Amino acid sequence: MKPVKKAVIPVAGLGTRFLPATKAMPKEMLTIVDRPVVQYAVDEALEAGIEHIVFVTGRNKSAIEDYFDIQPELVETLKASNKTKQIEELERLQLRPGAVSFTRQQLPNGLGHAVWCARDIVGDEPFAILLPDMVSFGRRGCLAGAVELYEKTGGNVVTVEECDPTETDKYGIVGKGEKVGNGFVITDMVEKPKPAVAPSNYYINGRYILQPEIFELLGTQQRGAGNEIQLTDAMKRLSDTQAFHAAPFDGQMFDCGAKDGFIKANVAFALARSDIRDLVLGPIEAMVSGQQKRSDAA
Ligand code: G1P
Repeated sequence: MKPVKKAVIPVAGLGTRFLPATKAMPKEMLTIVDRPVVQYAVDEALEAGIEHIVFVTGRNKSAIEDYFDIQPELVETLKASNKTKQIEELERLQLRPGAVSFTRQQLPNGLGHAVWCARDIVGDEPFAILLPDMVSFGRRGCLAGAVELYEKTGGNVVTVEECDPTETDKYGIVGKGEKVGNGFVITDMVEKPKPAVAPSNYYINGRYILQPEIFELLGTQQRGAGNEIQLTDAMKRLSDTQAFHAAPFDGQMFDCGAKDGFIKANVAFALARSDIRDLVLGPIEAMVSGQQKRSDAA
């Protein structure tokens, strides 16, 4: 079984749900506490053993490329004012030279098309995909759990969580088969099914390990839900000839493509940080109980 060393992170999406903030800034650069959303996906990938990151970008996303570059003037300025902690942190986050690639999705044809745009850089090896809007919060990152299952099963692995059964039409949904390790065999995959026809309430929460044969299928994939080329539809075709397993995530995923998920992620990560927790916990509690009092009085 070949190890998973490359990860594709699609960052071409427009971010219309965060207008006007995303008029002049990619949604992946919005910050959770003090790091851009995309940094969390990169950290999670590195934690899971990934060595090379492939970003699939689009127009107006150059801030992401600049973010992963070295900024010599900034380093010099920090050195001149003895800001060693900040310099160390920037060095720690720096990706190795040559271990990051950028390619462009020229047209907004959907997630399946975005992943297909990375085919030449990924080549003939299994690879991971991380959807950066989905920010993983837990004992360990969501992708690490997928890699653990993949090391047992090989083939293809997607990570899942249970959703409200009335909300299956927001996600890719999998059918649940027999148990394998901490996961299960996937018996079906449908992109955004209506609750009445959904095979379960297990939704794909944005982490995948796929075999390279997916690229050929993506290249011939017809448009599906939302008139877009859907990754789930190509995975369903690949499942005719290859195994697919689901790895349930034992933490929590925040959908930072939505305002409520983004705000919840900021609160959760702030409370988990020893340098911030005490600064925000009391005020948050006071705000919540103040609001409670106001609504009790109303
Ligand atoms: C995409 C995938 C879907 C998955 C979701 C997770 O949908 O197509 O299968 O469940 O991400 O966030 P999107 O959110 O791009 O509509």
